[in-house]
Amino acid sequence: MKKCFITLGLLLASLSYAQKNTEQKIDALLQKMTLEEKVGQLNQYTNDANPTGPLVINPNKEKEIKEGKLGSMLNVMGADRTRKYQELAMQSRMKIPLLFGLDVIHGYKITFPLPLAEAASWDLPLIEQSARIAATEAAASGVHWTFAPMVDIARDPRWGRVMEGAGEDTFLGSKIAYARVKGFQGNQLGDVTSVMACAKHFVGYGAAVGGRDYNSVDMSNRMLWETYLPPFKATVDAGVATFMNSFNDLNGIPATANAYLQRDILKGKWKFDGFIVSDWSSINEMIAHGYAKDSKDAAAKALLAGNDMDMESSAYRNYLVELVREGKVPETVVDDAVRRILRKKFELGLFDNPYKYCDLKRQEKALNNLEHAKVAREMAAKSIVLLKNEQNILPLSKDLKTIAFIGPMVKPKRNNHGFWAVDLKEVDSSYIVSQWEGLERKVGKNTKLLYAKGCDIEGNNRSGFEEAIAVAKQSDVVIVSIGERHDMSGEAKSRSNIHLPGIQEEFIQELQKTGKPIVILINAGRPLIFNWIADNMPTIVYTWWLGSEAGNAIADILFGDYNPSGKLPMTFPRDEGQIPLYYNHFSTGRPSKDDNDVVYKSTYIDLPSSPKFAFGYGLSYTTFSYTDLKLSSDKMKSNEQLSISFTLTNSGKYMGEEVVQLYLKDRFGSVVRPVKELKGFQKVKLNPGEQKTITFTIDNELLSFYNDQLQWISEPGTFDIMIGSSSQDIRLQSSFELMPN
Ligand code: GLC
Repeated sequence: MKKCFITLGLLLASLSYAQKNTEQKIDALLQKMTLEEKVGQLNQYTNDANPTGPLVINPNKEKEIKEGKLGSMLNVMGADRTRKYQELAMQSRMKIPLLFGLDVIHGYKITFPLPLAEAASWDLPLIEQSARIAATEAAASGVHWTFAPMVDIARDPRWGRVMEGAGEDTFLGSKIAYARVKGFQGNQLGDVTSVMACAKHFVGYGAAVGGRDYNSVDMSNRMLWETYLPPFKATVDAGVATFMNSFNDLNGIPATANAYLQRDILKGKWKFDGFIVSDWSSINEMIAHGYAKDSKDAAAKALLAGNDMDMESSAYRNYLVELVREGKVPETVVDDAVRRILRKKFELGLFDNPYKYCDLKRQEKALNNLEHAKVAREMAAKSIVLLKNEQNILPLSKDLKTIAFIGPMVKPKRNNHGFWAVDLKEVDSSYIVSQWEGLERKVGKNTKLLYAKGCDIEGNNRSGFEEAIAVAKQSDVVIVSIGERHDMSGEAKSRSNIHLPGIQEEFIQELQKTGKPIVILINAGRPLIFNWIADNMPTIVYTWWLGSEAGNAIADILFGDYNPSGKLPMTFPRDEGQIPLYYNHFSTGRPSKDDNDVVYKSTYIDLPSSPKFAFGYGLSYTTFSYTDLKLSSDKMKSNEQLSISFTLTNSGKYMGEEVVQLYLKDRFGSVVRPVKELKGFQKVKLNPGEQKTITFTIDNELLSFYNDQLQWISEPGTFDIMIGSSSQDIRLQSSFELMPN
């Protein structure tokens, strides 16, 4: 025991020595750097070839790198390309290496399911592994830094960027945020399989008014602290290297120049020692916001409020030297921003070897590792959500004679990569298994596969209906793959109408008339509205956009080689008129018990108020029973813990995984409390007939909330326990008292 204390002591001492050593090296660099060179470190430009925002072509990038006027580039990928730019940086006077950043959001060469789809897996180790593989491929390709994870809580499916996050719930979103940072950053920065992660978009971007991208956000500080900040805090707890602030104004102040967020909370209360990068040209966009008079004013406001690096607006490059010389921005503030950026360059090992990540052999090996595709296939299968299977059409038998595979999503490949796939020109992403190919590989030689497109994703061209109906009539079962195009969700892709586009629902109505068993696959980057299909079709599978292994994963599910286990990370509304609609809402003074309880209740007169599909919902080919709920006590004090256990049984005939969900309700408080809140979950694999005792531990942290003084407290009183298979499918209930201490 003594020995390990000594070892630990030595380890901590060596760590702090290394950190002290780095700070001393940074001090020495700052001493030598001119003000222009310091400002250069705060400047980031994109590679012109594949911009990810409104591009202002700047022809002098290579010259400015040699002059030390650039600290980082984004959208440069490849061991060779990054080496080229790094060689230019080594020609500068101070020879400070460049940082290369890229949106590695859900995979690099091998794409994984959209982050919202991965969230539907509720499988934290696998989500971490997915990020680990993305980091390994990206780091081998010269990338030091991914602009991920996006951890914006989002309750509005009209917002196109819901595809990029983990959905509506703070508890699930925080767990996933932590896992993704750990996956991207690995054991430590400086490993050649690790990249810096970037918690974005700080903060509140997902609460844009009307679900319209870049729109204003206005919320109470209590809502900010209770719902939107915790996933960001989870990234800090995970050691995230960087933050990116958001385009939106929050309560009247653009996040890019919001000192409360960046200085008081992030760098102050949370003691964040990384750096903050603005989002694309968001510094200059404060002019359009009406918050900065001009670019010079915007530069001053952003830096003074804590924004360290300027992505693509040139405001820092053009005005910071002048602002310091005029005494409007202290050079010490510039020094702090430079220090934060240099610290990460040291941690990545770039000063020891600027070409550390530019190894063509390592890149070749990392980008051709078949294990990556295997994990992507498992991740994709676990992200799929079974919404309906009323006549048990699924799983399909491999002895089926004829299968008709119909629809606009069956054969195209690109769509399956989804939005924010790494630029397909720059990275060979040709490895992608279409949905058709996945089925072709799955079925036996005695099964005939028939195809028809049937209709387009958009438009009203019905000319393909006839052929599709004829093909359907020749089959034993019909699989139809429909949805929205991959680029109908994503940045600047807000939709006022989130119904299935075009005439796809009408097409299904025509197919239904054939009387054939029909399986519907819905591909999308967000919750869609498809009420007629949901009410009239017996078998519906939500397949999101699943990445490189889409076809194989879908086939695995359809034929039962993987029993679907996904659970919705977002509520699916019946109509846009219900939005925002989320499960952990407040009760109101006139809550309605169910869709029939509408007289003088908080409901609509023209639509049921319940969701079409609830948060946490997802079916399996098997069934699970929840029994024997036991509490270690019916009371606890805030300095104690209480354990809850129950028996989960696989009561069906297929091996399967169940995501058991623990919800708590604080019956009353000094502020109103949600009708229920997710406070625990476990993904449990059971064979048919197998049982397992599941245990959750309740501690004071799970009972705490922000009161109206913004204090994080718990209050004595009664708490309801709800354990279920979804937020609406509660199987076991009980309650306990939190006693005064
Ligand atoms: C975009 C996005 C941000 C991304 C950045 C760089 O505008 O808002 O998420 O990381 O620019 O591509």
